[in-house]
Amino acid sequence: MRETCTLARLSGMSVGFVPTMGALHNGHLSLLRAARAENEVVAASIFVNPTQFGPSEDLEKYPRPLEADLNMCEEAGVNLVFTPAREALYPAGYASFVDVEGLTDRWEGEVRNGHFRGVATIVLKLLQIVGPDRLYMGEKDYQQLQVIRRMVRDFHLTTQVVGLPTVRDADGLALSSRNACLSLEERKKSLILPRTLHHCLGFIEDGERRAWEVQRAGLDYLSVEGVATDYFAVVDPDTLRQLDIIGPRAALLAAIRVGNTRLIDNRIWNEAPQPEGLTHADLG
Ligand code: PAJ
Repeated sequence: MRETCTLARLSGMSVGFVPTMGALHNGHLSLLRAARAENEVVAASIFVNPTQFGPSEDLEKYPRPLEADLNMCEEAGVNLVFTPAREALYPAGYASFVDVEGLTDRWEGEVRNGHFRGVATIVLKLLQIVGPDRLYMGEKDYQQLQVIRRMVRDFHLTTQVVGLPTVRDADGLALSSRNACLSLEERKKSLILPRTLHHCLGFIEDGERRAWEVQRAGLDYLSVEGVATDYFAVVDPDTLRQLDIIGPRAALLAAIRVGNTRLIDNRIWNEAPQPEGLTHADLG
């Protein structure tokens, strides 16, 4: 992978890279397509990264439909698919990890201890191997995206990080390989997550600026039978710190559990650009 990507860059071709854990769906596909549209060479990786799974998380049960994944990559026009063996990336004696401080101690990081250490470590390793001009990631995992942006800046990497919008099913549920674990009944219940985020975004659009009020409304909405909330937070979209007063930008982050399945989702609030001052007509 390194040799091929180095040769491509040396011959003046741009390289776009999409890291994944496989079980590809239309969310992944949107990243592959964006990479295809903006680069001469597209590389993807399929690797279920053990270091980002906690001891109680089901690493071994993670779906691995390699054949279907390779087909999707081919259809999307991916040139190179990297499917390393676990021992190739973490050989015996492996001892180095990446810690992105601050951003990782809350929300997903608090519930999934050590998760972002594993994510940052594998993404840095993959970037070292592929050396892409552009890295494509989904806003679906908003905290992960911010952690990787921070790491890329902190380590002076020259890769441009491209964040792309969340792809959803027609009913609003964000696509995730975990959706396959939901029973029909659970899937219906899961819709409370995108609906709550949508409702709370509307609350802000209507002028609510007290973050705790938005948060209280969100938690209220999520407190339905059969759904457990891990967190619902109104945060600064860059630092991921809880907001008090909502400014021009905010991120609504939420995680719930429906049965044995954990789901995360988010929405970003971006104040529409203000009109450019008053016109003669306004002034009468
Ligand atoms: P994975 O869950 O396979 O996701 C790979 C990429 O697809 C991530 O950037 C994720 O944000 C994006 N993605 C997932 N669902 C999406 C959706 N509905 N819409 C848009 N993008 C979506 O995230 C990981 O793998 C791993 O942590 C990884 C970064 C590969 C490191 O191991």
